[in-house]
Amino acid sequence: MQAPAWPTETKRHTLAELFAADPERVGHFAFEAAGLYLDFSKTHLDRDLAARFLDFAAGRGLGAARDQLFAGAAINSSEGRAAEHSAERGEGAPESVARARGFHARMRALIDAIEAGALGPVRHVLHIGIGGSALGPDLLVDALGRHDSQYDVAVVSNVDGAALEAAFSRFDPGATLVVVASKTFTTTETMLNAASALAWLAEAGVEDPYGRVVALTAAPDKAVAWGVDETRVLPFSESVGGRYSLWSSIGFPAALALGWEAFERLLEGAASMDRHFRLAPPERNAPLLAAIADQYYAQLRGCETRAVFAYDERLRLLPSYLQQLEMESNGKRVTPQGVELSWPSAAITWGGVGTDAQHAVFQLLHQGTRLVPVEFVAVAEPGHALDPAHHRALLTNCFAQGAALMAGQASDDPQRAYPGDRPSVTILIDDLTPEALGALIAFYEHRTFANAVMLGINPFDQFGVELGKAIARRIEADGPTGFDPSTQALLSRAFD
Ligand code: F6P
Repeated sequence: MQAPAWPTETKRHTLAELFAADPERVGHFAFEAAGLYLDFSKTHLDRDLAARFLDFAAGRGLGAARDQLFAGAAINSSEGRAAEHSAERGEGAPESVARARGFHARMRALIDAIEAGALGPVRHVLHIGIGGSALGPDLLVDALGRHDSQYDVAVVSNVDGAALEAAFSRFDPGATLVVVASKTFTTTETMLNAASALAWLAEAGVEDPYGRVVALTAAPDKAVAWGVDETRVLPFSESVGGRYSLWSSIGFPAALALGWEAFERLLEGAASMDRHFRLAPPERNAPLLAAIADQYYAQLRGCETRAVFAYDERLRLLPSYLQQLEMESNGKRVTPQGVELSWPSAAITWGGVGTDAQHAVFQLLHQGTRLVPVEFVAVAEPGHALDPAHHRALLTNCFAQGAALMAGQASDDPQRAYPGDRPSVTILIDDLTPEALGALIAFYEHRTFANAVMLGINPFDQFGVELGKAIARRIEADGPTGFDPSTQALLSRAFD
């Protein structure tokens, strides 16, 4: 397929040149969106290039696609359904919003009942799920107060029994609520872990193990058939994708551990980013600006990766959350019409936590041969009561890294020289409130969507994950025969 006419640069300018040429650069490229402060001024976009990329996005149908997204149209064409995560926070088709509210009311009623002691003592919450059914709830609980909650929440995803065993070793089975989270309620890892958790409860003498289970799913019939009482099944809509599902009943452990009010504030923060994405002018539209910067670096500068560093321990799970959101959404090689792309799709998302990452991977960012667009996410208010010197050092380091990447430093010794002109975006959050976290996550969702529109792909399916699962099932069912010699040798060595 012929590549779309990506905007081109008439002349490539360094970041230093861009700042020198436009005294208003920070005012133009750094602004507030839904309570977050985002600074795009250390990217290579200038006003003209940004305007041409924004025109390009419009020409690729961004406006109409966004309207369809919020209207609940079936934009996930390969699966014939809508992508209605924004309806979960009140921004979407009225009937979808009403349905989401109904599901939320059910979730809240169960939380009230648990708090009133209807399920007996609950101090420990063992949340079992994987991918979107684990990464989102884990991020929420971790970021907003795993330590302050009256509930100790463990999110177990890996089928490796060691993960479950670690949770068993610190939880009291008599005070544990097992939460089985699976959109499909068929995912092998989750179902195996859930069965082992039930066995653990039974072995510990818990009288009615199934009575300690809550199911979060878009397939309530399957959860009931598996043995969960209907009153403890919290459904959500099929049109909410797994990696977009933390706003639905999949967010249950967060709503329980952080409190219903915090969960509602999270949804409100996301809704305010929804409104921003829908209504803000293109040149002040944060998800859109971020996406055009992504495409500039991917299409014009050949960047294969992008790195996200959370300069806040509370956001340490953000990079892995974003890996699923961005790579499962946009790691595609054909258009919805099945035509092969002749341009790169999603960059590889990677990252870590500052300042730790500075002492591990920043060498490559400053002096390696590859250009990696970097994103810093920092919070002005500290998440702890220790000496303010800690937080000052954290933020100082964050901003120093962005400045160093851009400025570089000359040296007579090439090994000691920093080329500079390396781009970064900084997202500064005033305080890590539920609203701010909701807005931040929704920002990434809409950026992913805007990228998909420009790339010409469907971000809402994930057929690429199926083949490996099918082969694993075949090995389980038929044994290690009929495979390539390498796979067969591995299977024999491990199992014979
Ligand atoms: O294997 C990928 C995937 O389908 C993800 O998209 C999803 O978040 C995860 O598995 C878990 O699926 P489920 O919620 O149905 O268990």
